[in-house]
Amino acid sequence: MKNVTVTAPGKLLLMGDHAVVYGRPCLVTAVSERMSVCVEQSPDGQLHFDMPEHVDTRFVSRALETARAHWRLPISDITIRTASQFSGNVGLGSSAAVTVGMIAALREYLGKKDSLKTLFTLSYRTILDVQGKGSGFDAAAALFGGTLYFVTAGKTIEPLSVNNMRLIVGFTGVKADTVTLVREVEEKMKAQPERVNRIYDAIAKLVEEAKPKMVEGDWERVGKLMDFNQEYLRDLGVSSEKLESLIAASKKAGAWGAKLSGAGGGDCMIALVSDDKQPAVQEAITQAGGQVIHISPNAQGARIEP
Ligand code: PMV
Repeated sequence: MKNVTVTAPGKLLLMGDHAVVYGRPCLVTAVSERMSVCVEQSPDGQLHFDMPEHVDTRFVSRALETARAHWRLPISDITIRTASQFSGNVGLGSSAAVTVGMIAALREYLGKKDSLKTLFTLSYRTILDVQGKGSGFDAAAALFGGTLYFVTAGKTIEPLSVNNMRLIVGFTGVKADTVTLVREVEEKMKAQPERVNRIYDAIAKLVEEAKPKMVEGDWERVGKLMDFNQEYLRDLGVSSEKLESLIAASKKAGAWGAKLSGAGGGDCMIALVSDDKQPAVQEAITQAGGQVIHISPNAQGARIEP
């Protein structure tokens, strides 16, 4: 039976969170934890799904709808199997990874030749259909991999040559509700557009400065810029006590910089560290009640597995 397996990486938003929903840039890196999507011809000619509990089925079903509409095919005789290396619900981008995995696996299965840009558009559309609002940064990271400079909706997707970036990830133990947080921020934007736009412009400036500094490997400066970014996110009201305590602990233990990553409210914080400070920062996060998630950044984008 014909079958195709694609794996796609998760992501960490390095800088530019929330602002990237509103026309500003962000920096995102793909991480080593991957989602696997296998599409196989069903022996009984029926559609079947075989997915572990923590994979959000809405994205898989919607991606199938997107693919049917795009390729004008019924696609109703396949079995879709997903498997995930993601550590549960920690906000590392499993929804985007499964969406990209589905779209890329279906292209291959159907023998189509659509470009990566088209795959991005299809994946992003699927995510918007399910969650209503979003920048698409997560789909770009899952598809292209590496570390990217990304502007809202993929207006710019620029791969950056970043080496030796050491990140420690601390999970707060609280699953963030991205959709609700993005909506709350939208309400703030409606109520105080000048204030929120000022914050976003300031964040965009930090991202622009961090971009070349990351390529140069000036981690001390990048860390400072991440700290400034965190101050603006706090002003925006998306941080939490737990995030703040993990961030403070990692700074005290010698991190170059630290901030929340993603929508905020919970999920993970990231700390940028030098090699020698790595153990102390991990220990400090654990002592402060966080769970260290072991990932490496700059992971390869979606790929067909043998
Ligand atoms: O919560 P996450 O990891 O899915 O990140 C959301 C990041 C936002 O900027 C708040 C939304 C977006 O789509 O860019």
